[in-house]
Amino acid sequence: MAAQETENPEAGNGIEHVAAIFGVTGLVGKVLARELVTKPKWKVYGIARNPEIMPPIDQRSSNFHFIQCDLLNRSETEERLSLLQDVTHVFWLTWASQYQLDSVECCEQNKAMMSNALDAIVPKAKALKHVSLQTGMKHYVSLQGPFDDEAEARYYDEDCPRVDKGCNFYYVLEDLLKERLVGKVAWSVHRPGLLIGGSRRTVYNFMGGLCVFGTICKHLNLPFVFGGTKRCWEETCIDGSDARLVAQQHIWAATNVDLYSHSTDGQSYNAINGPSFTWKEIWTALGEKFGVEVVHGSAFSEEFWYSKSMADKKEVWKEIVAEKGLVQTEMENLANWEFLDVLFRCPFKLLGTRNKVDRLGNSCNPLADTLNPKCLSVKQKRVHFRYKHSIDYRHMKEIVLPYDVFAWWQLDAIFLSLLLDYLPFPNLCKENPTTS
Ligand SMILES: NC(=O)c1ccc[n+]([C@@H]2O[C@H](COP(=O)([O-])OP(=O)(O)OC[C@H]3O[C@@H](n4cnc5c(N)ncnc54)[C@H](OP(=O)(O)O)[C@@H]3O)[C@@H](O)[C@H]2O)c1
Repeated sequence: MAAQETENPEAGNGIEHVAAIFGVTGLVGKVLARELVTKPKWKVYGIARNPEIMPPIDQRSSNFHFIQCDLLNRSETEERLSLLQDVTHVFWLTWASQYQLDSVECCEQNKAMMSNALDAIVPKAKALKHVSLQTGMKHYVSLQGPFDDEAEARYYDEDCPRVDKGCNFYYVLEDLLKERLVGKVAWSVHRPGLLIGGSRRTVYNFMGGLCVFGTICKHLNLPFVFGGTKRCWEETCIDGSDARLVAQQHIWAATNVDLYSHSTDGQSYNAINGPSFTWKEIWTALGEKFGVEVVHGSAFSEEFWYSKSMADKKEVWKEIVAEKGLVQTEMENLANWEFLDVLFRCPFKLLGTRNKVDRLGNSCNPLADTLNPKCLSVKQKRVHFRYKHSIDYRHMKEIVLPYDVFAWWQLDAIFLSLLLDYLPFPNLCKENPTTS
């Protein structure tokens, strides 16, 4: 567990860093794994319960190893993870979502999950240098209210004190890392806002919901409605965090030894895009991207609930999948309608600052324009981005369609289910044989 350099067993084959990515099939986990396996000197262990959606990585790189493991199962975790003795960097991008977010049970379950993993890995991984934890901006608020509707937007920074109301499993995870790592291994915690990315294993994936909704509206010729409160429609309420930005930030904090060489106390960083948006500003543009009708003046409705309107649309999604020859997906694995209903009726504002990471020189914020209305010009066929610190997507050259920040907006949303998991493969419209 020493923070100092120790001899790496992989040294002979050029591998210098060995990542264990927990939640490798999730929103950020997928991007991080793709990013690291393309880097020289990195080997990646990716951990999740379901292996079926990893072909883009494991078929292409001998440096990627998927490890199927239910982290809530202590003996299975010990058995499978204690073998990973060469791990140098841990990325904790997972969580147990069975219980209500602010419940005692949720805290207990998430603590057990991380405890199981740390117990299996930390004593054996003698060259472990850094543990990177992902929590979120919910660190700064209690979901239990009371919420002051009239309050001015406050921009949370990393020094804001914890909220003492309710239970927050983020605090439990941070405390567990403190308990286990301080004095031994460096660690950092990253707090994204609303994550923007693609995954079928994600409970809170608003992009999946929006894209399925847009696709169904197009198929049935329904109006593309924003169902939520006027305040959420007209005001900036939440930060967006592009999954690639967050993945880059994890790498930056984990590999920038200057950041943590003097202390194992743990550092916290907000992981947000920066410029914010209102749904009102971008809704018409989104509708155009999906090719659906946005009725001027009635695009927003307080009476519209996605969970009610979409409840009977499972068969419609099946029809779309069959008609377009998409990879088999169930609507409920891509879209969480209850989450959209809550998100668009969020009773508080959750906005943060990027000052700390910017000040410390994290130059990996090329994605600040995600969902920025200025870039969502409906007339643009393609949007060009200011990649200050470019991410190397050359290995994706052969894909038919560009993968960039706006990929999902630019494309016909019908490709969604393929893009989610088979992005680096060329035959976007064919069932991928690796799924069967
Ligand atoms: N989603 C958001 O918009 C958002 C925003 C801000 C912060 N966050 C925070 O970011 C953290 C990660 O959430 P996320 O939404 O990014 O993750 P996610 O996309 O939901 O991914 C979860 C990952 O964990 C795996 N997993 C779940 N239970 C597991 C278990 N028992 N054993 C092994 N693997 C398991 C999942 O794969 P399997 O299901 O196949 O196991 C999946 O790979 C959480 O703390 C979350 O609160 C999320």
